[in-house]
Amino acid sequence: MPTELQSRKRPLVRRRADGGSLAVEQVCFSYPPSHARRDADAVQALDAVSLLAGAGELLAVVGPSGCGKSTLLELICGLREPDSGSIDCAPAVLMPQRDLLLPWLSALDNAALALRIAGLSRGQARERANALFVELGLDGFQRARPRELSGGMRQRVAFLRTLLSGKPLLCLDEPFGALDAITRGEMQEWLGASLAREPRTVVLVTHDVEEAVLLADRVVVLSRRPGRVLAELEIDGERPRSRTDPEVVALRGRALEELAIGGRT
Ligand SMILES: Nc1ncnc2c1ncn2[C@@H]1O[C@H](COP(=O)(O)OP(=O)(O)OP(=O)(O)O)[C@@H](O)[C@H]1O
Ligand SMILES: [Mg+2]
Repeated sequence: MPTELQSRKRPLVRRRADGGSLAVEQVCFSYPPSHARRDADAVQALDAVSLLAGAGELLAVVGPSGCGKSTLLELICGLREPDSGSIDCAPAVLMPQRDLLLPWLSALDNAALALRIAGLSRGQARERANALFVELGLDGFQRARPRELSGGMRQRVAFLRTLLSGKPLLCLDEPFGALDAITRGEMQEWLGASLAREPRTVVLVTHDVEEAVLLADRVVVLSRRPGRVLAELEIDGERPRSRTDPEVVALRGRALEELAIGGRT
């Protein structure tokens, strides 16, 4: 006779060492009640969310604030476990919404952290991180501490740290959110080019629908909390795409329309 614990259906979170694809199926997640909140009810963040990204694809996730986007990335990266449903993916790394740089390390050593953890010597790790520092316009700030950097610079250092982890699946939570429009455009171009050089699977959470349409192979639109998939838009256009490309303009309009409809329901 199975005990209650044994008979409980275990959610399946499977991490494959090979490939980079991601399959999220019917995932539900609630935060438990907390004394800090007045109603003390559980907060359902995600409701039966399913999404797919093939190896080397960029999947963008857009949705209103609080609909569970960061929660979804934390589930994919294994920082939380779904209440039900399944996640099947390669080892994943998270670039969190807040940069979480280590204040006592220099900018270069922050960027090189994953390489050090992977066993590279300090010299080797710094050399690899330094090449990208220059590409991302951070040259001259290698020895600065995070408190000496602007918000946008900190974000770029955190982005480098994520890329240098070498994991096949990158979960980026608003990676360019703190950047001015010009730097943001440059970073979007740089990401597109660097993924073309060294393909990775990417789940990109962004509040910028245009960014999603410019960069992604597929855009998933989530509803208000609890996040449900409202629409999934396939984007076939060649890269690099231009903001004025009629397909980009049309898809941006469609995604915004889905968000507006989702906001009314
Ligand atoms: N650690 C937590 N404990 C309890 N509730 C949480 C926690 N983190 C998030 N939530 C709640 O879960 C819901 C989804 O939060 P989440 O951070 O995933 O949203 P989001 O879509 O990333 O929002 P934003 O666009 O503002 O970053 C929100 O209602 C939030 O209050
Ligand atoms: Mg968030």
